[in-house]
Amino acid sequence: MKTNRIVVLGSCNTDMVVKSERLPVPGETILGGTFMMNPGGKGANQAVAASRLGGDVIFVTKVGNDLFGSKAVELYKKENINTDYIFSDPDEPSGVALISVDSLGENCIVVASGANMTLSPADVESIKGVIIGADILLMQLEIPLETVEYAASLANENGVRVILNPAPAQALSNELLSNLHIIIPNETEAEMLSGIKASDWESGEQAARAIASKGVDIVIITLGSRGALLLENNHCVRIPAFKVDAVDTTAAGDTFCGALAVALSEGNSLENSILFANKCSSIAVTSMGAQNSIPYRKDIKFNL
Ligand code: RIB
Repeated sequence: MKTNRIVVLGSCNTDMVVKSERLPVPGETILGGTFMMNPGGKGANQAVAASRLGGDVIFVTKVGNDLFGSKAVELYKKENINTDYIFSDPDEPSGVALISVDSLGENCIVVASGANMTLSPADVESIKGVIIGADILLMQLEIPLETVEYAASLANENGVRVILNPAPAQALSNELLSNLHIIIPNETEAEMLSGIKASDWESGEQAARAIASKGVDIVIITLGSRGALLLENNHCVRIPAFKVDAVDTTAAGDTFCGALAVALSEGNSLENSILFANKCSSIAVTSMGAQNSIPYRKDIKFNL
């Protein structure tokens, strides 16, 4: 029987965040505001988003044998996420991210990956049935690329829809791209994949066409406050964002991806799913933090 289960395979971090008027330039020290320690990591943020927005979620990640790791797993359980397939590394620490946020809500992030980077293809192989049993496999690039490649090929061969958020940006093989159902890059990631600077709707469309030509069925480029651009079957649609005052854009993309996966798992059209995802991410940018800012389904005034 086909389920509507979403498996998120990816990273988990603890975010160390400071907000300041502006981001420092190289070599500069600036004074900022209050320090915050928040749960984060692109994989974890997307798993939390998908669960809060109504998805049936299994999160596959790897933590270290430390307090950050055990606290993170406790949190996911409270979020109704299935944590039965979370691995633990005896030697590497749990992931940590250092984040600066400026007064416009833009951020700069440096990640110390730790245990995230030991999540291996063999780990995925050991829980193969979980991947094959999903409706959607949602991944990012904060774990080893070979693990993402292995999982994408396993899922695609077994009829599981693979969604990749290629963040942080890196070059990807055409083989991986051809195993994807949907790719969701932002402007920077789209430029890395296409060689085209996707700074507005027109250049975004060119970048999307270049990425699709490498074998992905559906390309969705998130263009920040502009909205999202959808390219499917050679047909391009511009889906504008909801206007809000941004406080912190951290995890806006993660909320978008988690929300999109949920809407698709419920059988909604791509365009409606993107509208829903735009709505959810517009709420996420109005407060500080990654998982702290992700909305619940009951708070979304949008009928799917
Ligand atoms: O996408 C936002 C996330 O990127 C943060 O939570 C941080 O942990 C980094 O992984």
